[in-house]
Amino acid sequence: NQPTVCIVGSINMDLTITTEKMPMQGETVLGKDFATYPGGKGANQAVAASRLGANVHMIGAVGTDAFGEKLLAHLKKEGINTQGMRTDPSQPTGIANIILSEDDNRIIVAPGANKSVLPDLVDKQKELIKQSDVILMQLEIPMETVLHTLAIASKFQVPVILNPAPYQKLPEALLAKAAYFTPNEIEAEAIKESPLFSSIQKKLIVTEGSEGVTFYENNSQQWIPGHPVEVKDTTGAGDTFNGAFAAEIANGASIREAVTFANAAAALSVTKIGAQGGMPTRQEVKERIPQYRGRHG
Ligand code: RIB
Ligand code: NA
Repeated sequence: NQPTVCIVGSINMDLTITTEKMPMQGETVLGKDFATYPGGKGANQAVAASRLGANVHMIGAVGTDAFGEKLLAHLKKEGINTQGMRTDPSQPTGIANIILSEDDNRIIVAPGANKSVLPDLVDKQKELIKQSDVILMQLEIPMETVLHTLAIASKFQVPVILNPAPYQKLPEALLAKAAYFTPNEIEAEAIKESPLFSSIQKKLIVTEGSEGVTFYENNSQQWIPGHPVEVKDTTGAGDTFNGAFAAEIANGASIREAVTFANAAAALSVTKIGAQGGMPTRQEVKERIPQYRGRHG
């Protein structure tokens, strides 16, 4: 049986400008190239998991505009099941303005239709959630929807992985019920401030960019170093990690196996421009970590 990952999350069109120099406050600079790339943390994670062989369902929303149409077609082309997608005529499709320089990237998101990913949309897909091996969420959709999905998943005993990005204060119910949290270092620092931190510490899988990943295994802290690669664009590296991690957990892998696999997938993703450019296939990841076995090879 093919492992099934259900993602409840955002989808954006990324409007990306490359530049040698970042504009300062009040400054205009002449950049280099402009291009649009499919993005959004939810959709990026869906594409990552799908390329790695998982059966992926996406619950999310686009507007009735050209970006929305393109993004939906793209999800289908990537083999993602879109029965849980909503088209909302009252909102524009989400976009992200991305400025990319040699050693920096800056992103601002206008969520648009992602705000319409509301609890009723998830309610229509209860059966899908019940049949999933793993639910994967981020924080680019309303928090009430994240909590609602978590409650449904808990009822059916389907584990939830929460990627707390972009960071917001996490409600107690979320901290108590999610199986894993996958913050980056900055988000992890914020989680440490939470009064429930000690109770969830062992569920944290902290991505540290090129440094690698820190996680817990049998009550002790572990670290796996990053893979050295030539960096073109780090946008979506965290999303690749999350999609790959979820796909492997759904596949029955142990934490160490899933982290090892996702760490290699994320490294490969940064070698090409665009959040989803460079997201590898299963074969490409296995070539990077030939000793990897996982549960199903
Ligand atoms: O994580 C990268 C993503 O964040 C981009 O694709 C952009 O759309 C924002 O959601
Ligand atoms: Na990339």
